[in-house]
Amino acid sequence: MHEIIITGASRGFGRHVASQLAKPGRHLHLISRSKSEETVSEIRNKGAEASIWTMDLSITEKLEETFLPLLHSISSRNPEAIGLINNAGTIEPVGPLGKYDTADYRNHLELNYVAPALLAHLFVKRFQKLPVKKRIFFVGSGASQRPIHGWSHYCSSKAGIDMLAKTIALEQDTREHPVETAVFNPGRIETDMQETIRNKSKEDFPLVDDFVASASDGRNLPPEQVAEKMARIFLSDSFPHGEIVGR
Ligand SMILES: NC(=O)c1ccc[n+]([C@@H]2O[C@H](COP(=O)([O-])OP(=O)(O)OC[C@H]3O[C@@H](n4cnc5c(N)ncnc54)[C@H](OP(=O)(O)O)[C@@H]3O)[C@@H](O)[C@H]2O)c1
Repeated sequence: MHEIIITGASRGFGRHVASQLAKPGRHLHLISRSKSEETVSEIRNKGAEASIWTMDLSITEKLEETFLPLLHSISSRNPEAIGLINNAGTIEPVGPLGKYDTADYRNHLELNYVAPALLAHLFVKRFQKLPVKKRIFFVGSGASQRPIHGWSHYCSSKAGIDMLAKTIALEQDTREHPVETAVFNPGRIETDMQETIRNKSKEDFPLVDDFVASASDGRNLPPEQVAEKMARIFLSDSFPHGEIVGR
């Protein structure tokens, strides 16, 4: 069985990635705060197995405790291949640094950077010696490459993800049974996150008009279309280990 963990699979992009990966012979482990019931029935209808792991990834001091039972359950099933897709993320808070509560910025950093970094660490620690195909695919953003007014924590947490993946790849190159790792930048996709962005004020987010326009001028792609590409790359024989790839 190919065991695949996907964070943020209850809705948005992650839900579509899970749906694209749902095939017999695969077991998808879905992590989010809500129950992901609709995603689960879609996956099972396509012949794959699905397990729901309800957890708040922003509570990172509890992450090891909540994630280890999932890793243990994968180990006990003698997997043929194992994957981790770090997709869950948030854009909030949007606005100039200094405006919102410290807790809001902390929550952002915990979810967008600390959680994927710790999940990757726990995954590598648990499975390093296992002689099977192992992959960690991070969902990144074009925002990692350029500063965007109002997105200080989003741009910087996604830049951190890029460097995390590249560094893991470098280290894994010398291992006997390496974990392959890469980042996928989906570009603008029509999910709740885009709607959140469009509802921001110009004061908090000067580029808001461009994001309102991109919802109707063809620049925002449907999540299912981009998820199909990400799933194809994730399963490919030529996985772009150490690279940041776009849609
Ligand atoms: N949308 C875009 O245009 C775009 C562009 C570039 C990159 N991205 C990236 O793509 C990824 C997915 O974004 P999206 O647009 O699909 O966002 P979304 O529609 O807001 O969905 C976010 C997902 O993450 C989960 N999540 C949020 N907070 C969580 C928490 N504390 N613990 C566990 N799960 C949590 C949500 O489930 P629950 O609420 O049930 O927990 C949901 O399944 C993100 O990494 C984002 O940065 C998006």
